[in-house]
Amino acid sequence: MSILLNIQQDEDVINFLSEYAQNPRGFVLLSGKNGTGKSYAAMQVYNCISPFKLPAYDNEIAIFLNQADLNMKWSLEISKWSQTISLLTELKNTRLLVIDDLGTRTPTDAFMDFLYALVDARYEERRKKGTIITTNLTGKDMREKFGDAFVSRAASGQCFRLEGQDRRFNGRKTAQDALESQNKVIGISR
Ligand SMILES: Nc1ncnc2c1ncn2[C@@H]1O[C@H](COP(=O)(O)OP(=O)(O)O)[C@@H](O)[C@H]1O
Ligand SMILES: [Mg+2]
Repeated sequence: MSILLNIQQDEDVINFLSEYAQNPRGFVLLSGKNGTGKSYAAMQVYNCISPFKLPAYDNEIAIFLNQADLNMKWSLEISKWSQTISLLTELKNTRLLVIDDLGTRTPTDAFMDFLYALVDARYEERRKKGTIITTNLTGKDMREKFGDAFVSRAASGQCFRLEGQDRRFNGRKTAQDALESQNKVIGISR
């Protein structure tokens, strides 16, 4: 029996994630523009299996981090090799790992090495553990930024591209047009 997630997305996405949340295994890559509901969908899966229902850093069952959180946490721990290894082990061992908003910044080479090691470790565990990655990047941009070896692991499971308007504009079409128009400058007299 599958649980229904409280999301309104394509039926394919809902059906897949509802099943996945029962027993997360393998990679799920959710891509799409800002506001298409990627983080929301990933959080719904996380909430299904996290006993605390909150983002957590040291939770054995599920960990939800965005790339900036991960970078910060990693930066704090690289001063000692053993701490880097224990961070990697913690993130490798968790039952469900969500890496939200991958690619919002360009990683340094050293952080890229850490991310690659993490994705590789999660790939090795893919039959027992689930990894969800959300990103605004297209496949091509992800390859350019993170390399082929990273993408072949990150995209080794299900990949969904979420479409639609930015939900944060909530139907405020004029606001969105004003923001995105190159020509109109609102509120500034010229
Ligand atoms: N399926 C949904 N049902 C209701 N609200 C949603 C849904 N998906 C997203 N939202 C809301 O829309 C906004 C943008 O969603 P978010 O997941 O943050 O987008 P993204 O991560 O793709 O930029 C958030 O305020 C979120 O709560
Ligand atoms: Mg997001």
